[in-house]
Amino acid sequence: MKITLSVIKADIGGYVGHSESHPDVIAKGEECMAKAKKDGLLVDYHVTKCGDDLQLIMTHQQGEDSAKIHELAWDTFVEGTEVAKKLGLYGAGQDLLSNAFSGNVRGMGPGVAEMEFEERPAEPIIIFMADKTSSGAWNMPLYKIFADPFNTIGLVIADNMHQGFSFEVQDIKKNKKIIFHAPDEIYDLLVLIGAPSRFMVKSVRNRASGEIAAASSTQRLALIAGRYVGKDDPVCIVRSQGQFPAVGEVLEPFSFPLLVEGWMRGSHHGPLMPVSIKDSTPSRFDGPPRVIAAGFQLINGKLTGPRDMFDDKSFDNARQRALDAADYMRGHGPFEPHRLPLEEMEYTTMPQVMEKLEGRFVDLD
Ligand code: F6R
Ligand code: MG
Ligand code: MG
Repeated sequence: MKITLSVIKADIGGYVGHSESHPDVIAKGEECMAKAKKDGLLVDYHVTKCGDDLQLIMTHQQGEDSAKIHELAWDTFVEGTEVAKKLGLYGAGQDLLSNAFSGNVRGMGPGVAEMEFEERPAEPIIIFMADKTSSGAWNMPLYKIFADPFNTIGLVIADNMHQGFSFEVQDIKKNKKIIFHAPDEIYDLLVLIGAPSRFMVKSVRNRASGEIAAASSTQRLALIAGRYVGKDDPVCIVRSQGQFPAVGEVLEPFSFPLLVEGWMRGSHHGPLMPVSIKDSTPSRFDGPPRVIAAGFQLINGKLTGPRDMFDDKSFDNARQRALDAADYMRGHGPFEPHRLPLEEMEYTTMPQVMEKLEGRFVDLD
């Protein structure tokens, strides 16, 4: 059975500040999704949250980039925004950067990760969702999952993975994309994706079968809006087992709390802390950045789950290391490398400060 899995998310109001989603907004999302399922547009759905972001996980047979599905998500966010406004939530409708829907939510504020595939007899899926960080946060984990044998022993042992995976990388500043084949081209691949503020892994495929393995959201809100409007808070779908890495291989990279962009005012580097869905409540200095993992088994498009994959003791050390790293990074206060480099601050305070100081700069002797 050919099925499309779409994960579309938006921050439409925070409770309190930017720290969490309100249960009434989630309930409104549930209501809209239930109606679409009843009407036959959706096969199934699950609504959840990561911090202040509402997450719509949908299965259907409309294919990727479907105007109907995107409109459903957009309308759900609009209705949720009404609830958020009534409750006086913070930044109600924050990520809806356009006043009217025009066929596709890409470029309008919400984040989108989608994949269409022929469902296997048993289809384990992990959906990663992050808050207080940007889309490039998936680069290192995706590299480790699909190209690093020190993370994924299946690349060495399993016949159906031994040919490796191909990576579609987007240059989000130049609006271009390129495909790299791992393991042959990993050095070239790393030159680019090691710079995650510009180059982002959009999707990954098994080279032998051509099957889609992973898809992520890569939009940069700041580039859409031309100013700082909150971080992208990206999502990523990963298929698992069989010709894809095992569930444990997919989760393993998050045992290292890598430093990512985001955190307070989207202007800092901080550790990406793997947490349970309940603990995705970034509160300390609006962070540290969080990632959750919702696991599902798909059967005829029906989502069995979620299992809250990081709600597990084996990630306690990663959380502790993340908290220690958070203390260490915070010690730098307003100094780089805790604060983002100047180039990245260009969407926030830099231009105003430079404009104000313009006339006071004099030439060096
Ligand atoms: C980061 C984030 C928060 C806000 C901060 C200021 O992605 O959402 O750290 O940037 O709380 O928010 P405003 O400007 O809305 O007062
Ligand atoms: Mg917010
Ligand atoms: Mg958010």
